[in-house]
Amino acid sequence: MEYRLPTYDDEKILKDYVSEHYANYERSISASNELTSMNYKEWVDKINRNTNIPDDDWGKYYLYLVFDNNKLIGLLNIRFELPIDYRNQYGDIGYGVRPSERRKGYATKMLKYALSICKEKGMNEVIVGCYKDNFGSNKTILKNNGMLYRTTTEDLVLSDKWAITLDNNYYKITL
Ligand SMILES: CC(C)(COP(=O)(O)OP(=O)(O)OC[C@H]1O[C@@H](n2cnc3c(N)ncnc32)[C@H](O)[C@@H]1OP(=O)(O)O)[C@@H](O)C(=O)NCCC(=O)NCCS
Repeated sequence: MEYRLPTYDDEKILKDYVSEHYANYERSISASNELTSMNYKEWVDKINRNTNIPDDDWGKYYLYLVFDNNKLIGLLNIRFELPIDYRNQYGDIGYGVRPSERRKGYATKMLKYALSICKEKGMNEVIVGCYKDNFGSNKTILKNNGMLYRTTTEDLVLSDKWAITLDNNYYKITL
């Protein structure tokens, strides 16, 4: 699998990625950080800039396009310098897999990769948030050793917060 930042040349494949979600009746694209509401080039500039110079409340982060066999599979957002109130509300990592590629193990691998990056950045623990009825995401987190520590109600929906400790060798970078 390949993880990389977006470039100007990715506009068409990202359009296809978004269209596939819309065709699947999904209006929001997980981990896309305003992709659908910004001018594309400005979005690319912002995502690349924010790896080094945070220009909003989310601190520095990586937003990676995830490829397998040259096909865009998903988006992965690793927010490695998130302020604590945002950490508690949104979690350090976001991810999404295109509808046609789900249930093939991709999210599990993507989360593991994200955790290895967090470990490399010196983090000891990662927080991941997810709605209670999102069975696929819950299981993805469980498979990466998540420990459920809090459930809250957000807009009348139950939302779980998971902690994952990074103090072992499981989280070595593997592609
Ligand atoms: C949630 C999501 C990321 C899962 O991606 P995925 O690539 O299908 O996940 P995986 O294939 O790694 O599956 C992980 C586990 O969850 C299970 N799973 C996946 N989708 C599931 C579903 N809809 N219902 C029940 N179990 C599911 C898989 O079977 C697997 O368990 P197993 O190994 O015991 O078989 C994907 O459905 C998605 O992008 N959804 C929309 C965006 C989203 O919810 N993002 C997360 C926000 S917190």
